[in-house]
Amino acid sequence: MNSIRWIFVVLLLFSTLLSACSPQAPTSETPRLKQAVTEFFEELDVENMFTSIEELTKEPRLTGTKSEKQAASFLTEQLEGYGYTVDVQSFEFEKYRAPTSLRLTIEGFNETLSPAAFQFSVSGHVTGEIVEAGLGLESDYDDIDADGKIAIVAAERTSFHELVRNAGHAGAAAILIYFPQGYPINRWSLGKHDDAFIPALALSYEEGKALLDHMKTDGPVNGVVTIEGSHIDKAESQNLIALKQPDFKTNNSKEIITIGAHYDSVKQAPGANDNASGTAVVLELARALRDVPTHKEIRFLFFGAEEVGLLGSEYYVSTLSKKDRKRSVAMFNLDMVGSADAGKLAIQTVDGTANAVTKAASKAYEELHGHSVSIGSGGRSDHTPFQKAGIDAALFIYYPPEEWYHSPDDTVDKISKEKLLNVAKIVGKSALELTLPHNTDD
Ligand code: BES
Ligand code: ZN
Repeated sequence: MNSIRWIFVVLLLFSTLLSACSPQAPTSETPRLKQAVTEFFEELDVENMFTSIEELTKEPRLTGTKSEKQAASFLTEQLEGYGYTVDVQSFEFEKYRAPTSLRLTIEGFNETLSPAAFQFSVSGHVTGEIVEAGLGLESDYDDIDADGKIAIVAAERTSFHELVRNAGHAGAAAILIYFPQGYPINRWSLGKHDDAFIPALALSYEEGKALLDHMKTDGPVNGVVTIEGSHIDKAESQNLIALKQPDFKTNNSKEIITIGAHYDSVKQAPGANDNASGTAVVLELARALRDVPTHKEIRFLFFGAEEVGLLGSEYYVSTLSKKDRKRSVAMFNLDMVGSADAGKLAIQTVDGTANAVTKAASKAYEELHGHSVSIGSGGRSDHTPFQKAGIDAALFIYYPPEEWYHSPDDTVDKISKEKLLNVAKIVGKSALELTLPHNTDD
């Protein structure tokens, strides 16, 4: 009995000794990274994010208006309070006002027509013969005389912008674009203003075909196109840029990690989720990371004019020198990151393929949640201009989104603090992963 006990004690001692001497399992985080993440998590305060959303949603932050500027002033003040110097990057853009009335009448054609305008359709009053121009390609005008006439084309092969430009270049005074069967006609855009534009209206497939039949049976027919009240105003918006310089120099300290969100909203929408949520998280990340020692530059960006075509992010990217473009190695875009009624956190890249941002974020997500995050594709926000410029970028969004986004119901009472905190942790931890060196002995 005694000897059995002794054997047991010796075995126990031996195994304890063995495990004490064996090398530690390698951890993926260096002590410095681990400490940085701990410091950052301790500093994060979801109440700050929530208060910023309350402040930002007092009124809609409509692009290019005083209310968008007011939001920019609030953000600037906050960032300056945290010790940042804020660069306000202003830019001009063309703000389109939709027509107040549209009319299309055709000689001898008695059915009522319900045309739609495109975003960026120009105003005008045109009387002229209607002329068929096939698919509206440049070559379709080679053998027809469109001068001063109203062209009618099928929308099948090229962008609406091209269709209107081609007709304008061929001398047409207005254009009717009829859609493929079953396509809605009333929510399309010509992209942006072009001096070659002529008044343009969209027609359903059935209306377009009926009109062509009428032209075939009745010979040349005249029509009248009237678009009233649309015009382009010059407006101004602004991006805000706050830099955190590297605290330590390493071989990669010249690289830039960018974290951004758009702060404008659409008409009549308080935009609590779209996108006071992303704005508030980026603001809190700027505060919480302020004193965490990092090895690379972190740029906190707040974009204006996203809702009218990603204009702020496009402008920012266009101002980057070739060298700064190269230095920008990762861009985290936060858009719609707080709705209690949206789905799970998802990460989207323009083409759905993984990159430096999705890799760092997947790792952070797995470490925090023990399972993987979904990576999808989508280009509907400010990561797109970055990705197009060759900068690894991704959108962080809870997906699918709540159905009332872009409406007056996008209010602060539907924001989840848990979701805000979760995305803040994932993005902050991933950014730290990317700024701090791996495999060092520090
Ligand atoms: N936050 C939205 C983008 C979004 C909404 C992505 C729902 C995924 C699901 C963004 O502010 C927006 O509205 N973008 C525009 C496109 C942009 C090019 C004007 C959109 O999606 O209509
Ligand atoms: Zn948005």
